[in-house]
Amino acid sequence: MVRMQSQDTMRKDVRDYWNTHPLGLQYVTDANIEVGSPEFFAHIRPWMNPFKFDWIMDRIDREAAGLRGKHLLEIGCGMGFDSLEFLKRGVRVTATDLTPAAVEFAKRHFEIEGVEPEDVRVENGLALSFPDETFDAVWSNGVLHATGDTALAIREVRRVLKPGGRAIISHFYRKPSWMWTLHRFGRENIEYQEEDPPVNEFYSESEIEAMFEGFEIIETAREHHRALPVRRDGLKAALYSYGFKPIYNLLPDPIARRLAYKYSVTAVRI
Ligand SMILES: C[S@@+](CC[C@H](N)C(=O)[O-])C[C@H]1O[C@@H](n2cnc3c(N)ncnc32)[C@H](O)[C@@H]1O
Repeated sequence: MVRMQSQDTMRKDVRDYWNTHPLGLQYVTDANIEVGSPEFFAHIRPWMNPFKFDWIMDRIDREAAGLRGKHLLEIGCGMGFDSLEFLKRGVRVTATDLTPAAVEFAKRHFEIEGVEPEDVRVENGLALSFPDETFDAVWSNGVLHATGDTALAIREVRRVLKPGGRAIISHFYRKPSWMWTLHRFGRENIEYQEEDPPVNEFYSESEIEAMFEGFEIIETAREHHRALPVRRDGLKAALYSYGFKPIYNLLPDPIARRLAYKYSVTAVRI
């Protein structure tokens, strides 16, 4: 069954937020850089997901090796950094995002890089317009916990996957974790320069895994166990930057990982 792009699952506040705060803009530190230019994408690249942490690029490398010539859907592509890496590795990609702003950025990015996706278009991950069993893989990085209905989003991922297809869902917000603690007790999400997104749901690992009904989970990982610089001002940001961050980043890896704030799941559709 094809779900129509409907308003009933659409959170207008989520769409409006991301349409006016595309992830990446907050990393521009040079006012002379023209947004959308080749220099712009090069300037923010070190802060974007596949480059920010080695393990994300490693995951793309591993997954792309088995997906050459196959069709991958990205949900919530933002400026298209992840899709671009799959395209460079010979994977056929349909890149989608809830917002026209992200879709325009991604199209421009692909054009600059000279890659040709199957399609780049606006899609609501909670009501995808694709028929059942369309894709060999679905990639979604830092998105599903921000849609307003994570369980529904995962059901949609399953619906559009072929049997045996892979769901590579990076980054659910995890509880307990240092970010959850800050969020809960400090009322501070801290990742964004201005206001936070309207939704970022936190889940325990077992809550996340329970949402993968109809999948076999083949890999899970706790990630984001280093605290990054923030681009906010104020007392809480200062406490974070000069108190919490240096101490947390000195913790030995196994201890830091226990407090990691993101959780990634790779699962095969049964
Ligand atoms: C934190 S950003 C991540 C962007 C990109 N994946 C990255 O890692 O750079 C979250 C993205 O999810 C998108 N998004 C939020 N809700 C969505 C939905 N219901 N369907 C599709 N995309 C959605 C936003 O528009 C935004 O581009």
